[in-house]
Amino acid sequence: MQAQAEAMTLSERADALEEHMMHELEHIVARSVLFNLAEGKVEADSGPALMARNPGKYMLMGEDPRLPKMPEKPTLMDYFRCRFASTSHLLQSATHALKGGHDEKVVLACLLHDIAVASFIRCDHGYWGAQMIEPYVDEEVSWSVRAHQALRFFPDESVGYEYPEMYVKYFGPDYQPEPYIVEAYKQARNHRHYMTARMITVNDIYSFDPNAKVELEEFTDIIGRNFRQPKEGLGWDNTPASHMWRTLNWPTRFL
Ligand SMILES: [Fe+2]
Ligand SMILES: [Fe+2]
Repeated sequence: MQAQAEAMTLSERADALEEHMMHELEHIVARSVLFNLAEGKVEADSGPALMARNPGKYMLMGEDPRLPKMPEKPTLMDYFRCRFASTSHLLQSATHALKGGHDEKVVLACLLHDIAVASFIRCDHGYWGAQMIEPYVDEEVSWSVRAHQALRFFPDESVGYEYPEMYVKYFGPDYQPEPYIVEAYKQARNHRHYMTARMITVNDIYSFDPNAKVELEEFTDIIGRNFRQPKEGLGWDNTPASHMWRTLNWPTRFL
């Protein structure tokens, strides 16, 4: 057994450990393809293969017991607390906007601008984030969250916004935004909510102080007044975005 374990590669050992942990659970937890893609594998376990490896168990069709327990009728705040991996960037950006005397829509847009990154996915995060909040906020807020995806890459001297230093460090000096981003920027420039989206970029804190503490509770009233919390719980209502929240709530539900 020892020799066998030693003969395993690191990734085989990780897989074996994961398999072992899965067996400890009452239900079968399947990984969506997306989780595998992030590890460079175009793979998915088939239903029959999972059943064969886990005799006597059913597929997980509800909450994942490994994750923080969500209330039955979750609110936006519950997702912040239980599903967002990091909220300090959002809280600090919103605080910056609040201190700058901006109206509540700008503050809310700053608070929500990167929720996709915080909870869900990095690629095209502005588009995902906008879609998640669209049914619950003023169009000005969701439009701005979507537009910030493109605006971040383009300076606006009128408000003192420059191309972020951090992007040079992250993407290299030669990185150029893709044509769809350039096109989205051009369209956004002439939109009536351009300045709201621009304010997201202005208040986006690129080099924030990881020690500065801002509490989510400071935004309770602004969220209460500007985010239409569904009575069924966010995800259990039936809007075109509900499934995204449900997926965050139950990310390993089999189907
Ligand atoms: Fe962003
Ligand atoms: Fe940001």
